[in-house]
Amino acid sequence: MSKKDTVYLLHTFKNKIGLRTFLIQYLPLVATRMSPLLIVILTLLVVYKLYRFVYDKPPNTPPGLIRIPIGGSYWLLLWRNYKYVHLALDYYAKKLKSKLFSCYFGDYFVVIANDYANIKEIFSREEFDGRVTSADYIKDRAFKKELGIFFIEGPQWQEQRRFALRHMRDFGFGRRQDTLESEVMDEMTLFIDILKNEPIYDEEKKIIKGNLALFPDILYASAANNIWTIMFGYRFNRSEHDILRHLCRSALMMQRANDPSGGALFQRPILKHFGNMFGYKNHITGSNAMIDVVKKALERQKATLSENVNRGFVDIYLKKLNEDDKSPYFTEEQLIILLIDMMFPAYSAVPTAITHAIKYLMHHPEIMNKVQNEIDSVVGTGRLVTWADRINLPYTEAAIRESLRIETLAPLGIIHKTMKKTTLGGYNIPANTPVIANLAAMNNDPDMWGDPENFRPERFLKEDGQLSKDLTLTFGFGHRLCAGETFARFNMFETIALLLQTFNFSFVDGEPSSLDDKVPGLIISPKELWLRLELR
Ligand code: HEM
Ligand SMILES: *[C@@H]1O[C@H](CO)[C@@H](O)[C@H](O)[C@H]1NC(C)=O
Ligand SMILES: *[C@@H]1O[C@H](CO)[C@@H](O)[C@H](O)[C@H]1NC(C)=O
Repeated sequence: MSKKDTVYLLHTFKNKIGLRTFLIQYLPLVATRMSPLLIVILTLLVVYKLYRFVYDKPPNTPPGLIRIPIGGSYWLLLWRNYKYVHLALDYYAKKLKSKLFSCYFGDYFVVIANDYANIKEIFSREEFDGRVTSADYIKDRAFKKELGIFFIEGPQWQEQRRFALRHMRDFGFGRRQDTLESEVMDEMTLFIDILKNEPIYDEEKKIIKGNLALFPDILYASAANNIWTIMFGYRFNRSEHDILRHLCRSALMMQRANDPSGGALFQRPILKHFGNMFGYKNHITGSNAMIDVVKKALERQKATLSENVNRGFVDIYLKKLNEDDKSPYFTEEQLIILLIDMMFPAYSAVPTAITHAIKYLMHHPEIMNKVQNEIDSVVGTGRLVTWADRINLPYTEAAIRESLRIETLAPLGIIHKTMKKTTLGGYNIPANTPVIANLAAMNNDPDMWGDPENFRPERFLKEDGQLSKDLTLTFGFGHRLCAGETFARFNMFETIALLLQTFNFSFVDGEPSSLDDKVPGLIISPKELWLRLELR
């Protein structure tokens, strides 16, 4: 080995080029020319570096999983459960005997909480309010910028979230409002009528056949119209329902393409060039499909904007865009992605959550019976269930809560991130650390629930049959609380109560009816399935 080579080698080490580069590029070259002693020394160095790599983590951070080159600890998770990361995380929390632990997703040091106490604390403290904002796959759906609500942080997030919620409230979002409620009741009456009578349009015939209906597709039109009207101030009529179904299918396509832990695309942005192998293509296709519809609707809205009337939230935002002294975060591109973020969960999460709930009830006929009996005795059959009936239907509400607990729709919520260096449970958490709340693990934690595996609505009821405090965190908590919780609960309740009031449900042979027939993603969705609906 020449002196020049040795100097070069030491130099590279000094500059910490990283183990991989060293192994691949320099080791073979050097190995052919050096003395046995040097080989021994270098081997020891490599072993030492590997050891450090596998076990090293920032000082006094939560107990950690070992780290393997390239994927970090992610390999272990995939090995354990390649479909459902939350189950793998729960498994390792138990293995490490620590409900708060850490690991590496690729090169990212990540902290995971699997229990109520830690999750509640994370959600309550503003230093945990950050998000991963700059990953390629996240920006690529938003004009390559940091826009929307889900994946922005700091003053931009505070301003845009506050503005949206304040003004969407005017149109009934997040509170009870007569106008919205009557719009929703119109929509739901139409929904039940379509199911009771014959399908008319070709696209309806694809999701209704005799007394069979395809779930969750059958739920799309009303779910999407109910949020659309808040934003734009009008609903699509029955002949236009295809547009709504297209929006919902695109939203679900996007949800299913995403890994709730960020997955490979988060760890290695370059993998986005592999089509759908890591979900990138469907993620973008679904997102762009929604953007196209929203863009067209915005053009129409702009052309018909009137100074005196606000038809929906969009009109207020468009007027804001015309102001001179607005903050720089108000842009038309931001409006588009904000609308997507505020609408796509209504398109996808609500219909899938309803389908999960109905499947659970069908698998537990005695509970289904109790719900139907409650609705019959409180509301009867002469009129449709309304929002106002909700307080008088505690068992129905408890059954819905139980379905949201046992099948935690967004198993890992949306990843948070520390805004600065902080502590949690006596451990240090460095700044900019992604922090994951394993909501599914918490909602199914035996220490908290006793018998989490049982579907038992009674756990949400007091002795007197009234609702008790809901300790699930299915919608998150704190500043980042799901913006649509009230809206989602209302829509779920209304749709489920109406369906059970009107129909008896039964499974169809050969359909994916099992509770395990579901698809992973940012939200867990049931496989599409036909159910038989018989008028009661
Ligand atoms: C059953 C249905 C739903 C479930 C289970 C659900 C659950 C969640 C969860 C777990 C989060 C993350 C909270 C966190 O970051 O800690 C979230 C965020 C969010 N949800 Fe929902 N959601 C549902 C429906 C909806 C609906 C219908 C809307 C809107 C109409 C909506 C809008 C949002 C928004 C905008 C955020 C981001 C909040 C932020 O980052 O500041 N969600 N949701
Ligand atoms: C539905 O709306 C479209 C577009 O606004 C309109 O052309 C059509 O006549 C409407 N159909 C019905 C049945 O009202
Ligand atoms: C609906 O289901 C209930 C309970 O299974 C049953 O008692 C009732 O007869 C059914 N109604 C009809 C019309 O099939």
